[in-house]
Amino acid sequence: MYLTATCPDIMFSVGLISMYMTKPTKLHLQAAKRILRYLKSGGPYWNVLKGRKDGRVWKASETINLPAPTFNVSQFIQSFSKRGLGVKDMATLSGGHTPGFSHCSYFEARLRNFSSLHDTDPSMNTEFARLRKTCPKPNKDPNAGQFLDSTASVFDNDYYKRLMVGKGVFGSDQALYGDYRTRWIVEAFAKDQSLFFKEFTALILKLGNVGVLENGEVRLNCRVVN
Ligand code: HEM
Repeated sequence: MYLTATCPDIMFSVGLISMYMTKPTKLHLQAAKRILRYLKSGGPYWNVLKGRKDGRVWKASETINLPAPTFNVSQFIQSFSKRGLGVKDMATLSGGHTPGFSHCSYFEARLRNFSSLHDTDPSMNTEFARLRKTCPKPNKDPNAGQFLDSTASVFDNDYYKRLMVGKGVFGSDQALYGDYRTRWIVEAFAKDQSLFFKEFTALILKLGNVGVLENGEVRLNCRVVN
């Protein structure tokens, strides 16, 4: 109660897992840990706009419209511009990966047989070859993967610093430093964390206004339509 009264931003998530307090599963424990991690992670604050509704359609096939971790910068620019977001918006929102984790499947193509010329992706720091151990082939551990920056429990600008030394986990993240259209943004945010926080806060609000539905619904179970 103390947490939800003082932190309205977690009220919904705390309320949801509280419903399973008498019979929690591993999944609920994971969710509780994630909320605690969020609380101590720091980072910027913003007022979330209320009233956005969930869709009445639920189709896995619609996810093909989302940008992929294998995209190059031109494909990214195209994908974001369809949603009214520009080049700078895209590089700023990608900083949302600072508290992130990825499963091996999203980046393992960079680790072996990358191209006819290179076994590993040449834009990747050679130290990162250790990820071959994390993600062996065949991989028996479905949870294996890598944090997207070196301070994954903290919301900071380390994600951008990592891109500058070739330690972006997704090819699409690393490409932001490889391309002249976005490199300057990576450099600016790596140098100035408060600038990143300021721009990120403005952009995440803008993202919340992308594709707002006029006739959506409030789902009783977030995973399926009512
Ligand atoms: C630019 C296009 C983006 C692509 C291609 C992308 C791709 C991905 C992928 C593949 C994962 C790993 C999922 C997994 O292994 O379960 C991931 C995780 C994540 N992404 Fe993104 N993402 C993008 C944009 C964003 C944005 C804009 C944000 C936030 C503002 C964001 C926040 C996160 C977070 C927090 C995680 C970690 C989730 C977790 O730890 O469970 N991503 N992303």
